[in-house]
Amino acid sequence: MSAYKSIRNILFKFEPENIHNALESILQAFGSISIVQDILAKNFCYSNEILKNQVCGLDFYNPIGLAAGFDKNAKMIKALSALGFGFLEIGTITKTHQKGNPKPRLFRFKEEQSLQNAMGFNNDGSQEVSSRISKIYPYALPIGINLGKNKNISSENALKNYEDVLKDFLDLGDYYVFNLSSPNTPNLRDLQNINFVQELFLMAKSHTKKPIFLKISPDMPTDEMLQVCEMAIQKGADGIIASNTTIDYSLLSQPKSIGGISGNALRAKSRAVFEELARAFFNKTTLISVGGIDDAQEAYRRIKMGASLVQIYTGFIFKGPSLCKNINSKIQEYLIKDGFMSIKDAIGADLK
Ligand SMILES: Cc1cc2nc3c(=O)[nH]c(=O)nc-3n(C[C@H](O)[C@H](O)[C@H](O)COP(=O)(O)O)c2cc1C
Repeated sequence: MSAYKSIRNILFKFEPENIHNALESILQAFGSISIVQDILAKNFCYSNEILKNQVCGLDFYNPIGLAAGFDKNAKMIKALSALGFGFLEIGTITKTHQKGNPKPRLFRFKEEQSLQNAMGFNNDGSQEVSSRISKIYPYALPIGINLGKNKNISSENALKNYEDVLKDFLDLGDYYVFNLSSPNTPNLRDLQNINFVQELFLMAKSHTKKPIFLKISPDMPTDEMLQVCEMAIQKGADGIIASNTTIDYSLLSQPKSIGGISGNALRAKSRAVFEELARAFFNKTTLISVGGIDDAQEAYRRIKMGASLVQIYTGFIFKGPSLCKNINSKIQEYLIKDGFMSIKDAIGADLK
């Protein structure tokens, strides 16, 4: 049994959110100590020229990112930067702080290597988070800032709410993500329509030239999803992140009645959504794939399907801190075996 599996057996005896909060405190406290960072980096980071790429003008030393939601309040950036990720996405952050939905709101399905969460954008709010990250700017890795709408803001006032939260991070993000796809804020997904997306990107592009992505749900009808993405791209979105969690509860044997599913149960659905997206928009915009990726085979598959970068959340919980290193070293092997000189050449290779 691997060392992490033994630790995991203990960690998984506790309520998922409590463990997350405990690990957050530990990583926050020790992550800023440089000797700790050195030890972590020595054990968990993997680098090779073949994995390096420039995407949207940003330098990535490997293509594996941490998906939004793990470090909602940007308390763990230093430690996570030493755990082998090529980039990190913090948030979702809202303009004012929120407690989120009542607990319990995070559920673990060990056999199915999946999670179901109904967190509801619990976060410290943009003032506090921006002040926190301003102290460590510029960062060691590209940092994306994932932005959301406060629960108490109506759809009519959503545009202003997104504008306000974006404005608090204009000097602090390497890239931005508009999250319209969480299933845990009532009516948020309704904003995934061409009118709102048009206004959103026109607004955002008037404030910043930095890359801005739209993160979409895997639960939209394909035509509608493609239309919304097309509009976002037309109005200046630099890329699409697919996907958020799913509310297709048929994917778990004993689902809870709230929240979105992630991990293995989401994998095939997320991959299918990504396939449609890549078919429509590869070479027209930058695509990031997320959902059920927890090994090199799946990560490499998404890259060859057209993903410039991939992200992981649930796999990190189930497989532990060696995951990025394992994936990256294996991807390097796959690239060499397939005769690619650089990861850049593999992106979208299956579409060509
Ligand atoms: C507990 C939890 C909280 C999440 N919170 C957010 C969030 O705040 N914003 C967001 O865009 N996605 C959030 N996500 C979705 C992930 O970023 C990711 O899109 C999804 O989990 C699929 O990837 P995975 O299968 O690798 O977990 C969350 C996921 C989980 C499991």
